[in-house]
Amino acid sequence: SKTPVKVAVTGAAGQIGYSLLFRIASGALFGPDTPVELRLLEITPALGALEGVVMELDDCAFPTLAGVEIGDDANTIFDGANLALLVGARPRTKGMERGDLLEANGAIFTGQGKALNDNAADDIRIGVTGNPANTNALIAMTNAPDIPRERFSALTRLDHNRAISQLAAKTGASVTDITKMTIWGNHSATQYPDIFHAEIAGKNAAEVVGDQSWIENDFIPTVAKRGAAIIEARGSSSAASAASATIDAARDWLTGSKKDDWVSMAVVSDGSYGVPEGLISSFPVTTSGGSWEIVQGLEIDDFSRTKIDASTAELAEERDAVKELGLI
Ligand code: NAI
Repeated sequence: SKTPVKVAVTGAAGQIGYSLLFRIASGALFGPDTPVELRLLEITPALGALEGVVMELDDCAFPTLAGVEIGDDANTIFDGANLALLVGARPRTKGMERGDLLEANGAIFTGQGKALNDNAADDIRIGVTGNPANTNALIAMTNAPDIPRERFSALTRLDHNRAISQLAAKTGASVTDITKMTIWGNHSATQYPDIFHAEIAGKNAAEVVGDQSWIENDFIPTVAKRGAAIIEARGSSSAASAASATIDAARDWLTGSKKDDWVSMAVVSDGSYGVPEGLISSFPVTTSGGSWEIVQGLEIDDFSRTKIDASTAELAEERDAVKELGLI
């Protein structure tokens, strides 16, 4: 029988975990023929709740689930991991300043970066979902000097999927007709969902829409503020869709993006498109077999330039703030 793929998930007793673990265990990442071992990290007070989740995983009798290990020690849980999905993070609570949030998460992601560095398998890939995702990924990457930098990414696939869904609803196209969607920059309200290079059944999406005002005043803010709209409606933040995007991102990274299409992933910048080198910023990327490449040669007009620059300026500010705190 095949050796199980070891998938580590942090924040496993949280909302996203409650959807994510069951999808991974049922084969959504690697298909029905590859066994998966889940290695689940939580903080000590959440281990009891996590035991309940494991009972439910057992009760699903998933044929692809080869084993589950839980714990509160990152060194143990990341031991031999092939894929680490860093979902657990400190949420922003009332009265918390941005600097407090960066500091609280900084402590988590410095420790987890070091633990990955020392314990993960040689082929480790790391996807960060926990917010502020881009900067958390930057912190983990910087604290894992032995892991190649391109093994780290932050999740902007949910934004990418949201943008496809909004564009499909506007044009009546099916989501499968929409290709080459791009999210640029930070997973935050400054992100730039770009349809100027997207296509609908092979035609330029912005031309099919033919309505700059919709793009600027409806589409972009709807995608960028979707997370807040879901909190408003549901009373808690997006979880099933975030889990689904986390799966999409990891699966496409490991198995490859579709021909004549690309995906959005926040990865370390090499300076492409004027994004400062070293920032973890969202780009259009093609993927195959666990590697990615930034799509080159796209023409960036003044409108897009301004939007990309605003979001990457925010990323640079976050980087400077965590540098100031001594986290990177
Ligand atoms: P949640 O609060 O329900 O769960 C988070 C879990 O992480 C908790 O069980 C907590 O105990 C755990 N945790 C905290 N510190 C930890 C540590 N040091 N090690 C291991 N586990 C730890 O939150 P939810 O809804 O599951 O969201 C998780 C994160 O994902 C949040 O930061 C949220 O903002 C972010 N998110 C990101 C999205 C994206 O598109 N990038 C979309 C939606 C959410």
